[in-house]
Amino acid sequence: MNASYRGSLDTQNDDLILVLDFGSQTAQLIARRVREHNVFCQLARHNLQVDRIRELQPKGLILSGGPAGVYEENAPYPDNEIFDLGIPILGICYGMQVACRAMVSKVIPSQSREFGRTSCRSIAKNNLLDGLPSELTVWMSHGDQVENLSQHFEVLAETETCRCAAVKHRKKPIYGLQFHPEVTHTEFGGTILDNYVKKICGCRGTWDIGSLIEREIESIRQRVGKSRVICGLSGGVDSSVVAALLFRAIGSQLSCIFVDNGLLRENEREQVTEQFQNHFKTDLHVVDARDRFLDELAGVIEPQEKRSRIGRVFIEVFQKEAESIPDAHFLAQGTLYPDVIESGANPDGPAATIKTHHNVGGLPDELQFELIEPLRDLFKDEVRQMGLELGLPEKSIWRHPFPGPGLAVRCLGEVRTERLQSLRQADSIFIEELQQANLYREVQQAFCVLLPVFSVGVMGDRRTYEETIALRAVATEDFMTADWYPFTADFLRRVSTRIINEVQGVNRIVYDISSKPPSTIEWE
Ligand code: XMP
Repeated sequence: MNASYRGSLDTQNDDLILVLDFGSQTAQLIARRVREHNVFCQLARHNLQVDRIRELQPKGLILSGGPAGVYEENAPYPDNEIFDLGIPILGICYGMQVACRAMVSKVIPSQSREFGRTSCRSIAKNNLLDGLPSELTVWMSHGDQVENLSQHFEVLAETETCRCAAVKHRKKPIYGLQFHPEVTHTEFGGTILDNYVKKICGCRGTWDIGSLIEREIESIRQRVGKSRVICGLSGGVDSSVVAALLFRAIGSQLSCIFVDNGLLRENEREQVTEQFQNHFKTDLHVVDARDRFLDELAGVIEPQEKRSRIGRVFIEVFQKEAESIPDAHFLAQGTLYPDVIESGANPDGPAATIKTHHNVGGLPDELQFELIEPLRDLFKDEVRQMGLELGLPEKSIWRHPFPGPGLAVRCLGEVRTERLQSLRQADSIFIEELQQANLYREVQQAFCVLLPVFSVGVMGDRRTYEETIALRAVATEDFMTADWYPFTADFLRRVSTRIINEVQGVNRIVYDISSKPPSTIEWE
């Protein structure tokens, strides 16, 4: 398995920064921000042993924030020897308190919990704050803070209520920030992280997607040899990038399988065929399993039952097709870095977070293939960048995510051909209008839902009794929380008029104004 901690980078000379994760909401964000400065960065458990850290040879250690207080029972602590390694350490918020406490400073519960933007003044010169104005706005989110800084530290910056907003150990390369440089509300946060990784840790900034592609290609070729690799295409960005990368690496040794389950968006099958058969000229197997799925879904209205039937049939259909391809030893999958972190699959990584996974459309582990997961080290935005560099069109790179069970979970009630047809058409009108209005990338996911709710209407002189379409559009960073999007009345009017005029069987449009939580993004 291609799952070693540094992935394919084990043998490379890229500099590494490790973020020791103390449970912060923003730990992944720190890693992404560091990578924006062309330095490879990964998350690790907060208490990763010093021996393992020595083996990995990071150029710097960032101690993340976290929800605990340093004096709480069972507060997470790093291996204390990290402070003697000589590797530059940057503690952020809780991470700073951990570092300062280890160096005998006192941390106290603050009188006033500080949360939000605040003004910060720098009071001493230091590489960490190079290129910053003497006064800047920073983002704070803490209860405790460091007081009685031991004489080992000097203060670099302060705010009205926090005397130790930025500190540095006088002899050791240990730095602390009470505020969060990784969030965009902190002005010059990027400069601070860049100063830390380049000026303090000495990273060269050699990591980029272009060179990563070259190295991945080399490593895929070595692993695969003359065997054949199967790649399941879903129409989504992750599997498309995996397929494009593999095609670049091994060309005709790649076979792609695309299952048409009859639950796809408008033109989805045509787009996949256009890209992977006409443009990339891969050995593309399009399996038309529409009837199989529809038969299986006949009469089913319960959402989880729909999901489980679709999942089962998908595996059967995929497996049958895969078995018909000779010499296939490998299966390529678009697993991303957040999946690796969140599943707790990495022995050095942070513990698994509790999260419901939507695993429909996935394949069972017992399939007799070796896995190739070339995106295991990447965040979603990096995957998009890779896709663009590999020549995938912007349109597919920025396409909104689509659930594995497809339109079945957006067609509430029974899934039937004519209802799917109405839903698909309404959805495509909504998306077209979003694109026209330049709003498609303002929202991260938008779609129509067909409700089995009949209401009375009039069209011309005719009375109608037809179903309802709900429009759903959300702004979200991570799909775990989401806000409904505030469209203008004009925009909603245009979409509504078009759908009612053009789509059979629909005479009423409603707009979903619920956020997640407590609602979910999908309706089923
Ligand atoms: P919810 O509805 O849980 O959705 O707020 C969060 C994100 O997950 C997607 N989603 C799914 N993806 N199989 C998938 O592959 C599923 O069964 C599934 N259900 C929801 C949803 O589209 C959104 O992006």
